[in-house]
Amino acid sequence: MRLCASVFLFLILLTGFCFGGGQELFMKKCGSCHHKGGQAPPVNPADKAALVWKKYFKRRRHPIDLSKIISPQELQEILTYLQEHAADSEQPEAAIIPK
Ligand code: HEC
Repeated sequence: MRLCASVFLFLILLTGFCFGGGQELFMKKCGSCHHKGGQAPPVNPADKAALVWKKYFKRRRHPIDLSKIISPQELQEILTYLQEHAADSEQPEAAIIPK
């Protein structure tokens, strides 16, 4: 019984680790507009190189002002995630938001 509880807790932690923070925010916040049939086409971390993501919002390249929907801390978390899984990263992620 004890063991089961530990395994259960471990799995919850693992899920949180693999599927939390930046990725969840990215899917929730960016995905609210960027999805199939949405007001903008799907975007994914592997669409751009890490450096390009880093500069993208800093240089206000995004066509819509997101400051009312996404706080600076959230954007930072999303950016970290995007850079960690960018086109030129070790683990590019191309299909988080399906095309
Ligand atoms: C309020 C809706 C909305 C949200 C939220 C939003 N976007 Fe966008 N985004 C748009 C629209 C609209 C465009 C312009 C799409 C077009 O050109 O057809 C766009 C364009 C883009 C582009 C340019 C597309 C390209 O092919 O280069 C990127 C990259 C992008 N968004 C990334 C993001 C990221 C990352 C987030 C989350 C931090 C985000 N967007 C959140 C509406 C949104």
